Amino acid sequence: MSDLIAQLEELCIEAEAALTRTQTTAESEAWYHEYLGRKGKMTAALRGLGQLAPEQRPQVGKRANEIKQALEQVLAERQEQIAADEMASALAAEGIDITMPGRRPAVGKLHPTNQAMRDIVQIFNQMGFQLFDSPEVETDDMNFGLLNFPLDHPAREMQDTFFTTTPDVILRTHTSPGQIHAMRKYAPEPIRVVLPGKCYRNEDVTARSEMMFYQVEGLAIGHNVTFSDLKGTLLNFANQMYGEGRKIRFRKSYFPFTEPSVEVDVDCILCAGAGCRICKYTGWLEILGAGMVHPVVLRNGGYDPAIFSGFAFGMGIERQAMLKRGVDDIRLFYSNDVRFLDRV
Ligand code: DAH
Repeated sequence: MSDLIAQLEELCIEAEAALTRTQTTAESEAWYHEYLGRKGKMTAALRGLGQLAPEQRPQVGKRANEIKQALEQVLAERQEQIAADEMASALAAEGIDITMPGRRPAVGKLHPTNQAMRDIVQIFNQMGFQLFDSPEVETDDMNFGLLNFPLDHPAREMQDTFFTTTPDVILRTHTSPGQIHAMRKYAPEPIRVVLPGKCYRNEDVTARSEMMFYQVEGLAIGHNVTFSDLKGTLLNFANQMYGEGRKIRFRKSYFPFTEPSVEVDVDCILCAGAGCRICKYTGWLEILGAGMVHPVVLRNGGYDPAIFSGFAFGMGIERQAMLKRGVDDIRLFYSNDVRFLDRV
């Protein structure tokens, strides 16, 4: 009996050695036939089982099975290795470098104006301002008269406003007429609204001005709305839009529809107030116009100025995007140059 086992063990060692020399799938299959196949050496050796005494057979048979299984196992591993090697050399022969990084798919993204608009609107949404939609085509009265522009105000001039062939119908020059629409819709309820949208001005196109641009208007009206509320709201906006810890400052200004009126600056996001090229060495960047809603405008909107007060603000959206991302030419926004659209 030990003879047969010894023979099987020897065969096993021989088979394992032979297997490590196989280099191709075909060779490994030939190896299978030589050792494990029906006419293979293992099968032949096992025929010797028949000559053994019956009581010896189980023990020898068991060992023989173990060896057979072990050989099947190493064959499977060898074939896996050969397959990987064959794949690698086939790829090498075809000149395919599988380590070369893939090409990034070109994924579309929001236009920088839309991105900034969404950022701004979201910040005010969080403070309870709801989105309000208002038209781009307005009457002269909505755009100017009801906002308390005197008849001889220079903004009404031919150079600034796009007129239409319909008398009195113009393209809005700012989002402020939306204030009148919102007030007339909700008066006498308190309101907090933001109104983003396109505006048009008949101006020379330069690095600083386009004929078409976007603004966001904000309006809050209630029973005890004060200038402090305006300050807090805009400070919160500046901190969320331009980074925690930003300072803002108010400069006195004039708009016909607010009294008092201010322009608001944020400390320069590049130099934090030290003075640099971006802030023209002032340390401050102008971001918007604002003020307390003029009593005449409140009345035009349907609110009694003896009972209600409110604040309003308006900002150029491209301007916010330019400040935030260090863009120095507004024309880039609408010239469809992917190098710019991708970068911003
Ligand atoms: N409408 C003004 C403009 O286009 C911006 C503005 C200033 C809006 C003050 C306001 C405000 O609501 O209170 O220049």
